[in-house]
Amino acid sequence: MTILVLGGAGYIGSHTAYELIERGEDVVIVDSLETGYLEAVHPKARFYQGDIRDRSFIDRVFEQEKIDAVIHFAANSLVGESMVNPLKYYDNNLCGTKVLLESMVAHKIDKIVFSSTAATYGEPERVPILETDRTCPTNTYGETKLSMEKMFHWTEVAHGLKYVSLRYFNACGAHKSGAIGEAHNPETHLIPLILQVPNGKREAISIYGDDYDTKDGTCVRDYIHVTDLAQAHILAVEYLMKGNESNIFNLGSGVGFTVMEVIEAARKVTGHPIKAEIHPRRAGDPAKLIASSEKAKTTLGWKPEYTDLEVIIGSAWNWHKNHPNGYQSK
Ligand code: UFG
Repeated sequence: MTILVLGGAGYIGSHTAYELIERGEDVVIVDSLETGYLEAVHPKARFYQGDIRDRSFIDRVFEQEKIDAVIHFAANSLVGESMVNPLKYYDNNLCGTKVLLESMVAHKIDKIVFSSTAATYGEPERVPILETDRTCPTNTYGETKLSMEKMFHWTEVAHGLKYVSLRYFNACGAHKSGAIGEAHNPETHLIPLILQVPNGKREAISIYGDDYDTKDGTCVRDYIHVTDLAQAHILAVEYLMKGNESNIFNLGSGVGFTVMEVIEAARKVTGHPIKAEIHPRRAGDPAKLIASSEKAKTTLGWKPEYTDLEVIIGSAWNWHKNHPNGYQSK
């Protein structure tokens, strides 16, 4: 199979490209490098630098490569930024996907696996969250991802496109080789920020709120290893290749950990006392997000391998301690 990975120089995209190549698949990567890194591009992938909003660029890729399926990670993904600059998210995420779909329809490429998010649900009605639960995003990022899902649906109705949308919860960890890992600029995610403390880059980790209705008052999240996410994308491509119908799946571990539990696990893994300070709540944070991933397990046959939080944090630490400044190209 030849798979086009859009956003294959980003965090989850690069890990998915690595897993595909390890399985012997042929991989083409497109990335604008706006938030991705050249060092994260697998050396065996054919790489095209460009923006999916550029119709002639994406047409050229589809003309030069014989693509069997697309995996689409090319989007902006910072919740906070999406609230300050919502139109950037409409432009990149929605306009980019519109141009991509026009080009896919024109080139008769009819399978796409899409990187969606728990942010499509907003404040959950209940946990664990099912795919059929209410979707009511509380930020522009989640809103654009939900609109992208709907764009796939209506493109299917009109043109027969088949899609799988994967709604992930809290992606974390790094590739076992230590070659690629999580690098965002600015960094906003809990685990890399915690690990900046033992790395000497930050004095303390801020805990955003300890007055939630949870066991220790801090927010509960469902942390899922990036390699397990990557495997789910491959299973989703295979699912579409077998002629199955379009579908939406949650991807999470099904287990929730509080912010304090994550910090405690990081202390054990790193052997560092990791100072923590209580700060006010961060706007828009739901108290608890936990996925039900039963549908992905039964329908796709997905079996997450990384089920131990300390092992997950250990894999992140293996990357961050060797790359305290992330990638070097920016
Ligand atoms: N947190 C802190 N201190 C920090 C950073 C985070 O206490 O310095 C807390 C947050 O308040 C939250 C938890 O740690 O309770 C996890 O925060 P992250 O920013 O790591 O992740 P989020 O749960 O906010 O975001 C994740 C994905 C988003 C997605 C969102 C869905 O990263 O892409 O879930 O709600 F949109």
